[in-house]
Amino acid sequence: MNQRGATEHRRAALSGLSGKVIEIGAGEGSAFGLYPSSVTEVLAVEPDDELRRLAKAKAVSAPVPVRVVAGAAETIPAPNASADAVVTSLVLCSVEDQAAVLAEIRRVLRPGGALAYYEHVRSGHKVLAALQDLVTPAWQRLAGGCHPNRDTLQAISSAGFTIRENRRFGFSAGPLVPPVDHILGHAIWPGDRQGPGS
Ligand SMILES: C[S@@+](CC[C@H](N)C(=O)[O-])C[C@H]1O[C@@H](n2cnc3c(N)ncnc32)[C@H](O)[C@@H]1O
Repeated sequence: MNQRGATEHRRAALSGLSGKVIEIGAGEGSAFGLYPSSVTEVLAVEPDDELRRLAKAKAVSAPVPVRVVAGAAETIPAPNASADAVVTSLVLCSVEDQAAVLAEIRRVLRPGGALAYYEHVRSGHKVLAALQDLVTPAWQRLAGGCHPNRDTLQAISSAGFTIRENRRFGFSAGPLVPPVDHILGHAIWPGDRQGPGS
């Protein structure tokens, strides 16, 4: 998957970030080597023990300081308004309640801070989207809670973020895997008004 383009997608999502970054659901740390030098520190939050162990090993050779900690997107272990950017890479598909997680991301972002996202999303094609609705209950159970049918860009907008740049494209994760719609971009938390649910 990384060789087919996911590494370049992650690099594009991280491009332009600076200062203090929180990466949620860092997995085995596939993004760590891709952070630009303008990033001064990364707090990488990962709930899974085994993935966190792998991530800690990768953090050692990252080009910027990365601290890997246990935690979840619903309760990010960071103070209010403490981050210049939050990164989600293939994570918002898996969290139970996207709106609650986006509210938690708003909490830790400073006003004007960025949510950098790279996510697979609901198909723009009606028939494919209906198929995704059909397979989601089974897929969720098989694939660690992953929902293939989520309109994550809409969720980000509805949470009060301003989409600054967004790319939408089909991406196939493997040779026999059909292309799935993905989004990649930055959304800004204006911080000058109450978000939904605040
Ligand atoms: C598909 S993997 C992506 C890993 C990594 N971000 C990447 O791009 O390779 C999904 C990750 O989200 C994490 N995850 C799932 N639910 C989560 C939650 N509620 N809070 C934080 N991370 C979560 C999983 O443990 C896993 O590391």
